[in-house]
Parts: sequence; structure tokens; C-alpha cells
Amino acid sequence: MSTPAERLWWQNGTIYQIYPRSFQDTDGDGVGDLNGILSRLDYLVDLGVAAVWLSPIYPSPMADFGYDVADYTGVDPIFGTVPDIEALIAAAHTRGLKFILDFVPNHSSDQHPWFLESRASRTNPKRDWYLWRDPAADGGPPNNWRSNFGGPAWTFDGATGQFFYHSFLPEQPDLNWRNPEVKAAIYDAMRFWLDRGVDGFRMDVIWMLIKDDQFRPNPPNPEWQPGSSSFGSILPLYTADRPETHAIVAEMREVMNAYTDRLLIGEIYLPLDRLVTYYGATAQRADENVTDKATNSLHGADMPFNFHLILSPWNAATLAALIVQYEALLPPGAWPNWVLGNHDQSRLASRLGEAQARVAALVLLTLRGTPTLYYGDELGMLDGIIAPEEVQDPAEKRQPGIGQGRDPERTPMLWDSSPNAGFTTGTPWLPITSGSPEQSSVATQTAQARSILSLYRRLLALRRRHPALHAGAIAEVRADGGVLRYERHSSDDANPERLLILANLTADLETTQVPPSRVLLTTLLDGDGGLCEGPFTLEAGEGVLLELL
Ligand code: GLC
Repeated sequence: MSTPAERLWWQNGTIYQIYPRSFQDTDGDGVGDLNGILSRLDYLVDLGVAAVWLSPIYPSPMADFGYDVADYTGVDPIFGTVPDIEALIAAAHTRGLKFILDFVPNHSSDQHPWFLESRASRTNPKRDWYLWRDPAADGGPPNNWRSNFGGPAWTFDGATGQFFYHSFLPEQPDLNWRNPEVKAAIYDAMRFWLDRGVDGFRMDVIWMLIKDDQFRPNPPNPEWQPGSSSFGSILPLYTADRPETHAIVAEMREVMNAYTDRLLIGEIYLPLDRLVTYYGATAQRADENVTDKATNSLHGADMPFNFHLILSPWNAATLAALIVQYEALLPPGAWPNWVLGNHDQSRLASRLGEAQARVAALVLLTLRGTPTLYYGDELGMLDGIIAPEEVQDPAEKRQPGIGQGRDPERTPMLWDSSPNAGFTTGTPWLPITSGSPEQSSVATQTAQARSILSLYRRLLALRRRHPALHAGAIAEVRADGGVLRYERHSSDDANPERLLILANLTADLETTQVPPSRVLLTTLLDGDGGLCEGPFTLEAGEGVLLELL
């Protein structure tokens, strides 16, 4: 097993997700661009993250804002050029930042030349690059599979008389991952970026790559409530998490293993016991006989993204059980990770409230495993208010008014008090949502010693400084009333270190017992250095990081 000192950059460091459309515009078109990200790299260095992950920047008709890729080896002009991204990668590397690209292997744009060929005729050599089926006997879709954005997942192509499958929009046809030519083409595209120094990929919806080869209908979901997304009316038994998917993830890993220290992240929304299978262990279940933990090698994703802090009820008992269960399920050699927000989820500070957003920062940055931050969460940004005429997200447009829209969490970054919060000199593509104290900018919060941005900076610095936090073990995880508590231990015998984290996840005062300790940080950014022992009272929504003496 690697020692803490030997841990890789993506194990020691923190990842920061940028939604490029909303980070920094430099050409006044109201949409962020690569040069904008370049101009803000020093902010990220100062914040203290190790790597940036960019949501897709490839040429795209933007039906799903870049998650509909028309060329896997280009850059959309709205964001810049391939030389621009090469310059950005170099500038990141110069500053010691790693650079991760989103990659969308499950589906392309319907404007990708591959699909244009595929739909040209039934005999086109690329016909089998996508999933084409004859109509059902009644002329309707081949089966009951549903789009994740609602409605049927099949769209009829009149010219060739067949339906094609799309997990998302009709503008996002699914590639046929059983076709070796598709695999080879995607792996070549991965190499294109790896050759340009990209340090890793976040693979979009990696658990959906393979669909049932018999196209069996999905079973109904007995728990579905009318009025919620129609996608939920069936269970995606035959359209996601198929056993054959793991062999493909392993092939992707092989592509990356030809390079040094590259990171494969998988976007995966699954229960924990299914999620951990994407590490690609030979033995995946506790009841399988694992004898040699240290040498058991993994051949799946380095980091199957763990979204369970987002998905779980926010209380101490639930989170303690979640952490214990996740740690227990990790296969030998697997490195944990935690995510608190992204471009598909309501903002952290809107989900949990301002006080809990601070305590959530403490939890995210003190748990064992790689944390991923979503841009703007370090400011406590709230969901934007999007008027009906301002809606951009196709998920909202396809199923209006049932809470599917993702525009609120994609509003522009708040840099300073200049017009449009310093994001653009033009008209921003989504409204700026400043105005309330929680919505203040980087410039304002930098000047405030106790702002949530100052808290993030402190936490990231502590995480980097303390091996117990970025590399150590986790122990004594439990709930004490409304307080989530756990310890982090460094495994460096010469420099032993034991830290205790207490997180009050309630809106009331909570008291818990502590052994003799020193306060390293409170989420209110007061009381550092104080000594404590015995009953310790936490403010509503307060968290503390203690060093056990
Ligand atoms: C992923 C992305 C999401 C996108 C979808 C389709 O879930 O995170 O934003 O809409 O895939 O590509």
C-alpha cells in the first residue's frame, strides 16, 4: 500500500469544477471562455485547489450546453481555439495545477459527422455506430425506454424508417459501445487530449454506456409519483449499470495507463454498493474472499464520483452511517472521494442554508478522500432566480415547472462589484444573482476575515498542511445527537497526529464531549488556538476542527 508521501496528486489534492460558460468572459459575448479561465488561474492557486475540471468545451450546437459534442478533438469557438486550450493547460501546469477535461463518451451531438453519416442510410458504414431499431408492431417506439430528460428515448428518422436511441435529448444520440470502431474512435480522441497534457477525464454518465442487447423493456417503478419526471416512471434496469460496462471502463483505464499519473473519474449516480463496483476490483463484495488487500489491483475508474453527500438527508445519524458504509464497501486499494455540488444539482447553500453550507465545507474538506468543489460554492452562492423567459436548460424546457431545470446552479461567478459582477462586459447568458449578503463577490469576501471564502481558504490550507487530513485514516465515525464526529489520524509514526472533527448539523446548540484538545479552526473563524476538554458546545450549524493533545 502506498504511504501518504507516495500518494498521487489526485489523492492529496482538491478538484475544482469550472462551468466554462459561467466562469469568466473576456470577449464580451456574455459567455465565459478559455482566456477567461486563464485570467483566473491565480485565484485558483490562491484558493488552494490542486486541479481544475472543465465542463465540456468541444464544438457543439449547445443543445445541452456542450454535453452534445460535434467534434471530440476541437474547441468550440465560443470558448476559444485548440491553441488557446494548449496555452491554458501550459499555464495551469506552470502554476502547479492539474487540468481535467469533461469527456462525453455515451452520446454525441446529432450534428457530429459520425451521426450525420449514420442516419444517411441503413447501409452506411457508420449505421451501427449508433443504436437504430425498427418501430414496434404498432409503428411506435421499439420499447418503453425513457429519456433522462423526460419523454421517449427513441426518435423516429423518417428518411430511413427506424428509431434511434438517446438517453438524453434527441440531439444527443447514444453511441453504440458494442461496436469496436466506436471504441477505437473514442480512445483515439482521449489520446488526442492526453498527448496535449490533459491530466484526467471526468467521464460523463459512464454507467450508461451499454444498453441491453436484447432491448428488453424496463420494468415500471412502483414508487413513481405522477407530476415528477416521466423518466422515473420506469426503472432503468436495461439501460444503465449493465454488466458489460465494466469492461469498457477497464479499456479506458488502459488507454490512460499508457501515460503517467492520469486520472479517470466516472460520473455515476448509483447506490453505494453498485457505485464501488466501478473501481474495477477483482473482488467487489465483502463476502468474496479478499486475502491480499495490498496487492489487489484495480482496473476501473480511479474515482467513481460519490454524490451521496448531495443525495442523503443532512443529519448526523445519516451521514455517520453513510461514511461508515462507504468506507466499508471500498474495495482494497480504492481511494474514496466526496462531492457536494455540481452543474446538475441545486446549489449547496440553497439546499442546506448558509450556516450549514459552512459546516458542509468543513465536512467535505476533512473527510478521507478527494474532495470536488463546484465553482461559486466557496462564495456560498445561492441558486439563481430564473424567470420563465430566461430559461436556457433543455431539461427545464422539456419538462417545465417540475424542478428539473439546472440554470439556477449555473449562473455567472461573482468576481467583484463592477457591472455583471466582473463576469462580462456584455449581456450574461444567465442572470447575475448578486444582491444579498450571501451573494457577495470574491473581492468583497476576500476583504472579510470571516467570510465563507476565507473559511474555504483556511480549510484548503489546513488540508494541504496536515497529512492526517489529505492522506490519513478515518476513525471513530459516529453521531452524537445532532453532531457528526470523526477522527483523522496520520500514519506517519515519526509525526503522529490525531484530529477530531465535530459538525453540528442542526439549527440548535449541541454539546458533545471532547478529550484534551486544541482548536485548529471553527467554521465561524473564531477561537483558534483555544484549549478545550470535556463538554464542548457548538453553535447552530457550527463545526470545529480540533487537534487531540
Ligand atoms: C451528465 C451531465 C449533464 C448532462 C448529461 C447528458 O449527467 O452532468 O449536465 O446533461 O450528462 O450529457
